Amino acid sequence: MNKSLLDVLDRQRRSPPPVWLMRQAGRYLPEYQAIREKAGDFLKLCFTPELAAEVTLQPVRRFGFDAAILFSDILVVPHALGQKVWFAPGEGPRLDPISDRRGLTRLQAELDHGVLAPVYQTIAAVKPELPGNVAFLGFCGAPWTVASYMIAGCGTPDQQPARLFAYRDPQPFAGLIDTLVAASAAYLIRQLHAGVDAVQIFDTWAGILPAAEFQQWCIDPVRRIVAMVREAIPDAKVIGFPRGIGSGLLRYVEEVPVDAVGLDWTVDPVFARDQIQRRLPVQGNLDPLALVAGGTPLDQAVDCILEIFSERPFIFNLGHGILPQTPIAHVEQMLRRVRG
Ligand code: CP3
Repeated sequence: MNKSLLDVLDRQRRSPPPVWLMRQAGRYLPEYQAIREKAGDFLKLCFTPELAAEVTLQPVRRFGFDAAILFSDILVVPHALGQKVWFAPGEGPRLDPISDRRGLTRLQAELDHGVLAPVYQTIAAVKPELPGNVAFLGFCGAPWTVASYMIAGCGTPDQQPARLFAYRDPQPFAGLIDTLVAASAAYLIRQLHAGVDAVQIFDTWAGILPAAEFQQWCIDPVRRIVAMVREAIPDAKVIGFPRGIGSGLLRYVEEVPVDAVGLDWTVDPVFARDQIQRRLPVQGNLDPLALVAGGTPLDQAVDCILEIFSERPFIFNLGHGILPQTPIAHVEQMLRRVRG
């Protein structure tokens, strides 16, 4: 059976388009909540292969999505570099912050693949359980996004601590980015060897940077990761998701040789069709709040996206992660609409 998502990454148009949702395993699903409670701790859930495999499969079983995404988190990379990472219930991620150049010396130079072994075991456990038409996606965070959490030690509205660090201490900051480039490439290569079909690189905070810093801290490092992955695995398929960069997408797709680019929900679809999709497949970009709203506004938003992107290779997705308050019935409504 063909995996339609992989066909699209090979630049074939599929109708209806393959569909999956960023953060499709998560708190909006009661079956996820049950396992999450059983695991107790979020990182423990990520590092227990039977449980992580189960929550990876849950959204595919319930909705019949065209892709499964490995259940893990972008912050397992700093964890495997020796930084303390934990998830405070209801508060999101917490890390022992790196407040100055001395903090960087506490990090290991290389990833501890022993710490990440349960992730690779999760991939091996999921693989045989997936229907033949469902693609399996691995992922990592892009270096800038991961570094921004490592430096702040928590989520922030605009990543001020990392931006300041990069202005004040550019050399040590570049060293951290280099460490993350090597670690992310090694991590993605292991995921691909373990059995994922393609990988996505999440650059959630790419859009907060001025143009020169966007080039230096987002485009260049992600380009290097893709090159390192392809050096090990020449036909590796990679989706980039640089959130919030607007017209910076043009430079991103010119310079980063991804197989498809994810569009956040603020990207004008007509611009994206004419300027981006004419070069490579695109993925996106339903507003996650339209999915919360449901009803006619959801139908209209889905129709608009389908109408604009359906002429060329396209993957239907949200423009960012699904929100915890999303009703399951609205996900079903969206799928019926996409699949006609
Ligand atoms: O997509 C999937 O279903 C696979 C799993 C996945 C998670 N995180 C699980 C998760 C993926 C791909 C991620 C990526 C991730 N993690 C990103 C990039 C994408 C994005 O959404 O911007 C970022 C920035 C993180 C860091 C992170 N992890 C934050 C900011 C939070 C708290 C906010 C939130 O969304 O809950 C997490 C926790 C997290 N990661 C949860 C899940 C299911 C919720 C934890 C819980 O169950 O309490």
